[in-house]
Amino acid sequence: MKTPFKPRELAKFQRTLLAWYRRNRHALPWRASRDAYRIWVAEIMLQQTRIAAVLPYYERFLENFPDVHSLARVPQSEVLRLWSGLGYYSRARNLHAAAREIVSRHGGDFPGTISHALSLPGIGRYTAAAILSMAYDVPLAALDGNVARVLARLFAIRGHLRGPGHWRALTCLAEQHLARSAPGDWNQALMELGETVCTPRNPRCAECPVAGHCRARARNLTGTIPAPRRKPRAVRVRIAAAILRDPRGRTLLVRDPGAHDRVLFSRMWQFPAIEVSRQPRVELENHIRATLALDGSSLSLEALPAARHGVTFRNVTLLPFLVELPRLPKPRRSRALPLEALHRLPVSSATRKLAAAAAMRDAIVH
Ligand code: ADE
Repeated sequence: MKTPFKPRELAKFQRTLLAWYRRNRHALPWRASRDAYRIWVAEIMLQQTRIAAVLPYYERFLENFPDVHSLARVPQSEVLRLWSGLGYYSRARNLHAAAREIVSRHGGDFPGTISHALSLPGIGRYTAAAILSMAYDVPLAALDGNVARVLARLFAIRGHLRGPGHWRALTCLAEQHLARSAPGDWNQALMELGETVCTPRNPRCAECPVAGHCRARARNLTGTIPAPRRKPRAVRVRIAAAILRDPRGRTLLVRDPGAHDRVLFSRMWQFPAIEVSRQPRVELENHIRATLALDGSSLSLEALPAARHGVTFRNVTLLPFLVELPRLPKPRRSRALPLEALHRLPVSSATRKLAAAAAMRDAIVH
């Protein structure tokens, strides 16, 4: 799709939006430097994650790994530990693998060309364009959901953003409007406009610096563009987990996912768990008897309060059961450690919620 902007309107549009951004931009930590490493880490953390959630993780991550060499040097488990709670753990695994590649193949510098950047694990078009434009002034337009919405409204493109042909049209528009003199600021200006002003619902058009250029606003279509995405109904899942505990207060974490949802615990350390249907207690007991060689023992499973855990398109209920044992079993790939020491291992938020249920129970009982 060709831009409807005449050269003069394009220049004015770019000038106005850049000036707005430079006056109003939030002082985000990755905006304080042009260090490609810092920008890269930020962009990976920001994938599918809100800025406010990213900030504390980002600071801590950079304190521990201030450059690509320090990241490449540590084992993957150390990276996962610092990522613990942020979700989508393949991002951390890819980040770490890419750091090693950058050190071994690119002399420690984030590559400056799109093709080399795209060859790194975890880097797609959007992320490559964001990093290269922000760190190296490479004139690439970064199109994410926020930017796509802004453009769809500006040019009154009806329908779903990801509808057939739409993403391609939006990519085309993004490239035609890119301010080549300052691609990093430009991309972030569009992102920030989408995040703060041109929001999915109730856009703040009165505060929009480029409302005068907006075709959706002129035609009173801001409420219907973009068309809301029909969300698939969330699948309901119930996971029962066994918090085994010995008299010294140590608990058992395992590494091998059992017959349960693999995404939830992200292949990190977790309590023995299983997806259950009708009889959580019985199903979990059978599961731990079979997988942890607890055949002979008499087991008492104390149900702790359930916790809810929403992940994309899934509605998960976590059912923790406390199982006191004279001795913890020692299956392959397992760890025994005090519940309070859980944070020393990479664990997902679901595992933390389960541990919190046990800690809460102790606080009430003792
Ligand atoms: N979302 C993803 N990257 C961003 C950035 N650099 N600034 C603001 N929001 C973002």
